Amino acid sequence: MPVFPLFPPLQPVLRDADADDCGTLADLHATGFERGWSEHEFERLLTDRHSVAHVACGTGGHGDIIGALLSRQVTGEAEILTVVVRTTERGMGVGRAMLHHHLDRLAEIGVREVFLEVAEDNDAACRLYESAGFVEVGRRKAYYARPGEAATALVLRRAVG
Ligand SMILES: CC(C)(COP(=O)(O)OP(=O)(O)OC[C@H]1O[C@@H](n2cnc3c(N)ncnc32)[C@H](O)[C@@H]1OP(=O)(O)O)[C@@H](O)C(=O)NCCC(=O)NCCS
Repeated sequence: MPVFPLFPPLQPVLRDADADDCGTLADLHATGFERGWSEHEFERLLTDRHSVAHVACGTGGHGDIIGALLSRQVTGEAEILTVVVRTTERGMGVGRAMLHHHLDRLAEIGVREVFLEVAEDNDAACRLYESAGFVEVGRRKAYYARPGEAATALVLRRAVG
């Protein structure tokens, strides 16, 4: 069945994340996850030489950060640690634009395969990864603790480069 865009696509400006972004990234991250990461955690992640992080900025106004994607890479393999888009800009192609940009940059620095985990009931994220060519290579039952029943994580993989 065809999947139609939820909203007209946005064309965000994509750039590397930098140390000045940490506060904004912590706020943005908290909009997408029950357990957010603090500004300090972002500082630690962004100063790790194995981290690769990109942000998407809106083109109007002050060019606010509307999305972020961070992964960790070592010897040709990367793991996507987080991806989040500001609530008001979801469903407009920002996640897809960031993910493609990020995968291209990973390929340029020699990464050959990318892994990630996603809750199997996270429809938006599963669709984002599936349409970018990720395939399931494993399952971790009861991986994400939640009130009520814990959620299964899908382990996805995609070759790059
Ligand atoms: C997951 C997330 C990053 C997606 O970003 P986004 O900018 O909204 O996604 P896009 O608009 O680029 O859409 C990407 C694909 O997902 C689909 N999609 C987007 N929202 C969807 C929804 N609510 N339900 C089903 N599919 C959806 C789009 O149709 C598109 O599919 P296509 O490529 O086949 O056309 C965003 O929803 C988010 O920040 N969620 C909270 C944090 C999170 O769950 N992160 C992932 C953890 S693994």
